[in-house]
Amino acid sequence: MKFDIKDSKLAKKGALRIEWAAKNMPVLKLIKERFSKERPLSGLKVACCLHVTTETAVLAEVLKSGGAEVYVCASNPLSTQDDVAAALVHDLKIGVFAIKGEDTKTYYAHLKAALEVKPDITMDDGADLVSTIHQLPPVVHANIIGGTEETTTGVIRLRALAKEGKLRYPIIAVNDALTKHLFDNRYGTGQSTLDGIIRATNKLIAGSNFVVCGYGWCGKGVAMRAKGMGARVIVIEVDPLRALEATMDGFDVMPIRAAAKIGEIFVTVTGDINVIRQEHFALMQDGAIVANSGHFNVEIDIPGLAKISKAKRATRDFVDEYTLKDNRKIYILGEGRLINLAAAEGHPASVMDMSFANQAFSAEYMVKNYQGLAKQVYTVPEDIDKNIARLKLKAMGIKIDLLTPEQKKYLASWEMGT
Ligand code: ADE
Repeated sequence: MKFDIKDSKLAKKGALRIEWAAKNMPVLKLIKERFSKERPLSGLKVACCLHVTTETAVLAEVLKSGGAEVYVCASNPLSTQDDVAAALVHDLKIGVFAIKGEDTKTYYAHLKAALEVKPDITMDDGADLVSTIHQLPPVVHANIIGGTEETTTGVIRLRALAKEGKLRYPIIAVNDALTKHLFDNRYGTGQSTLDGIIRATNKLIAGSNFVVCGYGWCGKGVAMRAKGMGARVIVIEVDPLRALEATMDGFDVMPIRAAAKIGEIFVTVTGDINVIRQEHFALMQDGAIVANSGHFNVEIDIPGLAKISKAKRATRDFVDEYTLKDNRKIYILGEGRLINLAAAEGHPASVMDMSFANQAFSAEYMVKNYQGLAKQVYTVPEDIDKNIARLKLKAMGIKIDLLTPEQKKYLASWEMGT
């Protein structure tokens, strides 16, 4: 079996951490039990371009118990947990191509290594694997029946590809499932982003001016958690509805130019490019901390900051200090890559349980239905989404009511008014 990882000796530590994550993934446990009996992925190769974390390892095990041959490469050069990569290879016999801190060339070489196995299904997080496939000759996707996509940024890229009529196979947008984005993007990104910033800096959040750029589901989560820790939260938006929502949720809303002067900690979660630029760095206070939790490292214009700086040094793990010409210091966390996975461990297992249940169910759905699907981006079927919510509630020991026959009838009727 081929693989490329940092250090096989880390496998024991990785295995213990995977075991810990699995305890908090009850929905995946149920799926694994069924998959082991039914083997819905039998004989298929699945190439997963995901963050190589303990939670991803649990998903990989589920896919394997469903009969798949699983290969994993990283979906970000800085998010790999090297101990998990080692455990996947040595304990679970899964081919992994990922090393934390790999350069861009190695990152893409690893994606290509995962494609060399000629997968039947792709599982992407950010659409780098699918984008790579679409820049290679068609022979590369000869076996592929379909794929899944984990995140907002990836779904946007894939919809753009489909709109141009160039998507070569059907994809299920896992991110669009309610049991994914309402929980993973909000509570997962909310908690893990604060976790990453705190682990990297050990700064007190209480009393700080905390600027959140973007008020999508991820931004909402980050703002909510920063507020919960006592920060004065400022939200930056370009969408009038979201700006209004942030205002009514109790946050200050203003343009980035205004926030740049007063912010102490900045987080970008927009999915767009150059959100914090040179002209904003020029306005920042001495000691400002700037981090990104969006998928790609494009939201902070780090080259622009470098241009107006006279010095740069690493001061702590995942903290680069830039000294401006007037001696003000600005701190960039995790090289502008998603801070929750660079400096912390990403979203907690309990929330990834639902995201990855969507992945497992979607892979199964693809196998059963790919012949009837067009080369389009599909949402996760509603019954899968609802089933995951039901299973999660059950695992949490929470019971809910059912509609009475009378209520059902009322909801399906139009006659009865006041
Ligand atoms: N994305 C965010 N957090 C993650 C995690 N813990 N595992 C895999 N992908 C993630």
